Amino acid sequence: MTRIVLLSGDGIGPEVTREARRVLALAAEQHGMTLSFEEALIGGASIDAHGTPLQDDVVALCRDSAAVLLGAVGGPKWDDLSVELRPERGLLSIRKELGLFANLRPAQVFPALVEASSLRREVVEGIDLLVVRELTGGLYFGRPRGIDRNGKERVGVNSMVYADREIERIARIGFEAAMGRRRQLCHMHKANVLEVSQLWLEVVEEVAKDFPEVELDHQLVDSGAMFLVKEPRRFDVIVTTNMFGDIISDKAAMVTGSLGMLPSASLGAGGVGLYEPVHGSAPDIAGTDRANPLAAILSAAMLLEHSLAAPAAAAKIRAAVAAVLDAGHRSGDLVLPGEDRPVTGCAAMGDLVLAALEG
Ligand code: IPM
Ligand code: MG
Repeated sequence: MTRIVLLSGDGIGPEVTREARRVLALAAEQHGMTLSFEEALIGGASIDAHGTPLQDDVVALCRDSAAVLLGAVGGPKWDDLSVELRPERGLLSIRKELGLFANLRPAQVFPALVEASSLRREVVEGIDLLVVRELTGGLYFGRPRGIDRNGKERVGVNSMVYADREIERIARIGFEAAMGRRRQLCHMHKANVLEVSQLWLEVVEEVAKDFPEVELDHQLVDSGAMFLVKEPRRFDVIVTTNMFGDIISDKAAMVTGSLGMLPSASLGAGGVGLYEPVHGSAPDIAGTDRANPLAAILSAAMLLEHSLAAPAAAAKIRAAVAAVLDAGHRSGDLVLPGEDRPVTGCAAMGDLVLAALEG
């Protein structure tokens, strides 16, 4: 039996993961696979139970599974904790412990949702891009870090550190992804200011020699951010650092309409993959059945594709989601201001996707 670990986490995490699990189980079953699910704690939920955001036995459980489906972490309840003890640390630790250096964040526009974007239809229609974000290095993990006292002043320090092999392996993922798509790769950097970006530029150029069919360009991340809003369709695959990728991927998500629609996959060198919606824990609507489970459901589709070698099952989930949207169903985040339309709750949205899968 194939074991999936569910780390539903905090806020709306449990609600959206519940729907994603139901959809994942059915899609897998339709393709002749039986999954077993194990639930474990991460983030604030783990802090409340054990005093730390991620326990070692949870890491071991994940290592021993085929894949991990995660909800979201964090919330105001834990905001006063130091960086090392916050819920977010649980997420960063599981990524690091499992060696998940490659974060794939696809952003596509479902035709039914073109109007949900704050950009004009002609800018948005047909967006289909993939952000490949480095996930276990850079500013998030570099040392030195901390807050020190320097005489009378306090000084905060974080370091953007990348070894060439870390750049090489993520660049390779970017090129490989581009080969399976429109063969365009945009490397976003800040080499006019940062030495670490100059190294990225050099290493990405070296890797490019192995992928002569891919059209590579290097773009400063500030102007890249600008073009992402101006002409989002010009992008195919974007490869970048952990920090830039964090920012760029939220932006890419929002130009497609809603953060509530974007899935992600975090992969390492073989081994277990972790799948999570790009959106956060949305504590303001937690427990009210108002969350949009579609990003979690689409993350389950990525899980089928990347960890269970079941691309057909993944495609069926995506088609089911598109059918539900085409039929006019919308969660609250997808309803436009002033639009007169009934709002579909989280569990009901899950029911609709299940029905579409069965139909
Ligand atoms: C994300 C999130 C996380 C990150 C937070 C919750 C630690 O913003 O996955 O994009 O910064 O990586
Ligand atoms: Mg983020």
